[in-house]
Amino acid sequence: MSETPLLTERPEWNALVAHSAEPAGLRELFAADPGRAERYVVRVGDLRIDYSKHLVTDETLRLLRELALVTDVFGLRDAMFRGEKINITERRAVLHTALRAPRDAVIEVDGENVVPAVHGVLDKMAAFSEQVRSGEWVGHTGKRIRNVVNIGIGGSDLGPAMAYEALRAFTARELTFRFVSNVDGSDLHEAVRDLDPEETLFIVASKTFTTIETITNATSARSWLLRGLDGDEKAVAKHFVALSTNAEKVADFGIDTANMFEFWDWVGGRYSYDSAIGLSLMIAIGPDAFREMLAGFHLVDEHFRTAPAEANAPLVLGLLGVWYGNVLGAQSHAVLPYSHYLSKFTAYLQQLDMESNGKSVDREGRSVSWQTGPVVWGTPGTNGQHAYYQLIHQGTKLIPADLLGFARPVGELSDELKAQHDLLMANLFAQGQALAFGKTAEEVRAEGVPEEQVAHRTFKGDHPTTTILAGELNPSVLGQLIALYEHKVFVQGAIWNIDSFDQWGVELGKVLAKRVEPALTTGADVPGLDASTAALVAAYRELKEV
Ligand code: F6P
Repeated sequence: MSETPLLTERPEWNALVAHSAEPAGLRELFAADPGRAERYVVRVGDLRIDYSKHLVTDETLRLLRELALVTDVFGLRDAMFRGEKINITERRAVLHTALRAPRDAVIEVDGENVVPAVHGVLDKMAAFSEQVRSGEWVGHTGKRIRNVVNIGIGGSDLGPAMAYEALRAFTARELTFRFVSNVDGSDLHEAVRDLDPEETLFIVASKTFTTIETITNATSARSWLLRGLDGDEKAVAKHFVALSTNAEKVADFGIDTANMFEFWDWVGGRYSYDSAIGLSLMIAIGPDAFREMLAGFHLVDEHFRTAPAEANAPLVLGLLGVWYGNVLGAQSHAVLPYSHYLSKFTAYLQQLDMESNGKSVDREGRSVSWQTGPVVWGTPGTNGQHAYYQLIHQGTKLIPADLLGFARPVGELSDELKAQHDLLMANLFAQGQALAFGKTAEEVRAEGVPEEQVAHRTFKGDHPTTTILAGELNPSVLGQLIALYEHKVFVQGAIWNIDSFDQWGVELGKVLAKRVEPALTTGADVPGLDASTAALVAAYRELKEV
């Protein structure tokens, strides 16, 4: 098999690098071509994605598309949609797109159509969700379930927790939802301290069902439950369900596999909240809304699969990231939602992006000499404005950012609170404008600012942003947004020629934690422990005894 050319050896790469030697600022770009405000917009479903405030021209975009063409992004995309094993290090298909395929679709893995199984699990989830929502599913003592606690970590936590927050306005308000992930006992303690075990359902979410944090928390949750229910082991069946690919381990833990909602090894953890992992969300918003969300995902899947390069939103966003990260030297990417409900959106994207594209060897195992995934960070925009935006505006770093906002607020807000929405969005538009166009020294002087302050009050501008607008944040729109980012991450991984679907780096930490733990609890010798960590362990044990 012939090796893929190194990215940096491709003529298309070098053409981009050469092109970057003629930079133009955003004031100049808009003056020369005001039409870019309309032209640099891509629409998909309910999303209007404006990328006019980027440091690119038609030529930049053409060169980026050339790079996508020669790196065969669409070829890999098609292989993913066909169910080929593009996760090469784990020899697995990458088929989160099958989780939201319509009932009559045919998608094969190893010659078997997986779509009927996907819908079988969705139907089982729907029936269970309705039982919990209606009060038909009762706990061991006959009381209805009022509290749902999801125990999981990484993809088995961030997705449902993020989506629950995002769609809070659509949730059954009479139910309480909590998400426990941290093995720090305080997490579970705070989650259950005011709950009645008789009314509490635990959802243990773990693809592998071996993740130490989740199994430890689930074991402690079971003890808490049994303490509250006179130790009657039979209670577990009514208060514990599992979401996993590993029926054997679920049974070992003591959960009846009849109470297990299955998914498959071709669903990556960080791509899994639209699988059984979304059960807590489905209970919260109901099966119909969950299906609307899946339809939103599917809409963007189809767009990614079929739209031409110029109008392909994930491709465009992926390419812009390549331009900044690989050519202009940006190290990070800010995601700044102007929506309180999206407070966990960026944290979710951190796993999606950084666990996928935090790689430094290519698909052939060669070290890469180009930047791969950026540091993704951010919090809801208005709060960020009063914290770290100063650095984006006037610091020394290039930080491309996504600004996300909605035209209409959701939820039963009073008229007074609804009216605040324009102010929220005014902030989004103002920030995009200020970041892009800044304020020149002449403009500052014209305001009568004393000369010694002019430099301090001048804004260079040219801080690129994408503005993603939609009518409102509803289940379908959330699905559209997540699929958009999933495929953007895919595009970048394809260009960088890395495996975006494994996470070996995380595995090492897991193994080492297991090895070190006995030293903390019993002082046991850990063979081969390095001097620094051994000293830390000794200090910890001393402090622990105080
Ligand atoms: O963080 C590593 C990881 O393997 C993620 O990819 C995954 O989402 C998370 O751990 C949880 O894994 P599991 O669902 O198997 O408990």
